[in-house]
Amino acid sequence: MILLIDIMVLKILVYRSNCVSCLYWNLTIPHSLIRIFNSKKEALEKVRLNTAIKIDAGGYRICIVNSKDNLYAVQDSCPHLGEGLHKGTVNYLNEIVCPWHSYRFNLLSGEESERRCKDAKIYVLEINDMGVFVKI
Ligand code: FES
Repeated sequence: MILLIDIMVLKILVYRSNCVSCLYWNLTIPHSLIRIFNSKKEALEKVRLNTAIKIDAGGYRICIVNSKDNLYAVQDSCPHLGEGLHKGTVNYLNEIVCPWHSYRFNLLSGEESERRCKDAKIYVLEINDMGVFVKI
């Protein structure tokens, strides 16, 4: 009986979150989309090529990166010792490089290049006619 109820709760959560990793990491918080720019054009004007800025979205500090004219969103606080990744540099390997100790985080996976600390959290960006949204 308990197992049956757990499966029902799981199905409801799958329906609400529509994301398998959420089920593993964060069972109770459904996603929400927060608009951070009114258009991709506006985003690319504010986040110049190979630079990053910090935004606050829903109470989360997020580093928005423009690498090769693609936008990425990664947690701003460096997983090593907490420096703001938005102060870092973007390299040709599609990584954000922390300014303190030069740890490098892949902008697609969040993985640190030499596995010296835990991965940075990557946020999904959704770009459509209504603007640029970050999925929290
Ligand atoms: S604080 Fe970012 S690499 Fe050390």
